[in-house]
Amino acid sequence: MKEFPKDFLWGGATAACQCEGAWNEGGKGLTLGDMKPYRPFLKRTDLHEQRTVSMEMLREAHAEKGTGLYPKRYGIDFYHRYKEDIKLFAELGLKSFRMSISWPRIFPRGIEEVPNEEGLKFYDDVFSELEKYGIEPMVTMNHYDTPLYLIEHKDGWKTPEILIYWERYVRTILKRYKGRVKYWLPFNEINATIFIPYMGAGLFPDVEKENFKQSCYQCVHYQLVANAIAKKCAKEIDPNAQIGCMIARFTTYPATCKPEDVMQTVLDENYENYYYTDTLLLGKIPAYMDRFYEENNLNIKISDEDRKILSENTSDWVAYSYYMSLVTSANTDELEKTNSNLIIAGKNPYLEASEWGWQKDPIGLRYSLNQMWDRYHKPIFILENGLGAVDKLEADHSIHDPYRIDYLKSHIQQMLEAVKDGVDVKGYYIWGIIDLISSGTHEMSKRYGVIYVDQDDYGKGTLARYKKDSFAWYQKCIASNGMDL
Ligand code: BG6
Repeated sequence: MKEFPKDFLWGGATAACQCEGAWNEGGKGLTLGDMKPYRPFLKRTDLHEQRTVSMEMLREAHAEKGTGLYPKRYGIDFYHRYKEDIKLFAELGLKSFRMSISWPRIFPRGIEEVPNEEGLKFYDDVFSELEKYGIEPMVTMNHYDTPLYLIEHKDGWKTPEILIYWERYVRTILKRYKGRVKYWLPFNEINATIFIPYMGAGLFPDVEKENFKQSCYQCVHYQLVANAIAKKCAKEIDPNAQIGCMIARFTTYPATCKPEDVMQTVLDENYENYYYTDTLLLGKIPAYMDRFYEENNLNIKISDEDRKILSENTSDWVAYSYYMSLVTSANTDELEKTNSNLIIAGKNPYLEASEWGWQKDPIGLRYSLNQMWDRYHKPIFILENGLGAVDKLEADHSIHDPYRIDYLKSHIQQMLEAVKDGVDVKGYYIWGIIDLISSGTHEMSKRYGVIYVDQDDYGKGTLARYKKDSFAWYQKCIASNGMDL
């Protein structure tokens, strides 16, 4: 019977814009995340409201002097505490740490010709610290972190001009960290732009008087080309570097076995998941997109040069975030809805959901791993998995989180089943290995970590780090290579 491979990467994941803080230190420019306020009056499960960001809010953010209501500006202060945090990761036994480089820390406005040395030096220091403990970095180049200047003054991802700045940034970090970073991920959840245009590409619905859908798909197209450009640059600069691609995996089941519902599932899977991975792993925009563009009256500019870059620079591995599964049908109006990661989803009566409405489905992980393996036969990384929950800090600084252990354990068990099915899974990363600011709701109380950070939704707290019960559990899991759960 197969087990996890000996060199399996047991990991933990974070993103610069959710943990670094220091938004105006070290020469860093403004980024998308710096501009989105925490809105405590919104319901946790009202995904639509939570995700809506208007141009007006952006203007208010520019005018805002304090930082209290913009939690991504201070994060969990990883920028100043990375040594302490990495030491804890080493104690945990992490084999790999997923982090992102903040683009505006390297090129504050995105357009500069010369990078910001202070920003580059910060990541040198972080990599040195990881090397000290033998922790392999997994580095995202853009985790919802496009410099704001590019969005406000250069039309963001809507035009190919951004590819010039992107390539400059990518070349800079590939050269600087050559030999230190092997695993590079150009974009976090590249399919997010369609669902949360603000987060993925800095698009605001209220100023988009033209066809908004058209803008979203045009942005996504340039992001796909940008992913391939990163591979092209890596081949030239550091042939040992491996470039991946990643989606938020919307594992979708038909609501019934009615053929119409089953067919709708195939279409949803194509448009919401496979369009991205087919393009980046098979090197060709899939034919079903022609029909999609036509039926939606979309006229996406795709040059021959774009097609050439995509076909010559396919990704080395595929990755996805997996939190939940969802349900679809030919008539989605009839479906009862729930919240999910990035989209409002059809509810599955057989599954329980978290407080935020995300439906827990460990078997869906095995199911999706088999699907992805059968389709591409490329190494797979689960770059995010975890449970967002409210934790209680006890007087003695302990945190008892059996619900998180249950969630993680059941998913790892199903991942092992997939390994036994023959799927080549290379690594598994707990999202928010240390508590950080929520991407969707900007609150602190939606915690994922096995390490607790003493900070509340308003930025108050000592920022001290404490080990949750899940810390010892994951430590044991890693030490036994996933066999002692
Ligand atoms: C993923 C993102 O979609 O989900 C992360 O890549 C995010 O950035 C994670 O934090 C969990 O979402 P949330 O909204 O609970 O923080």
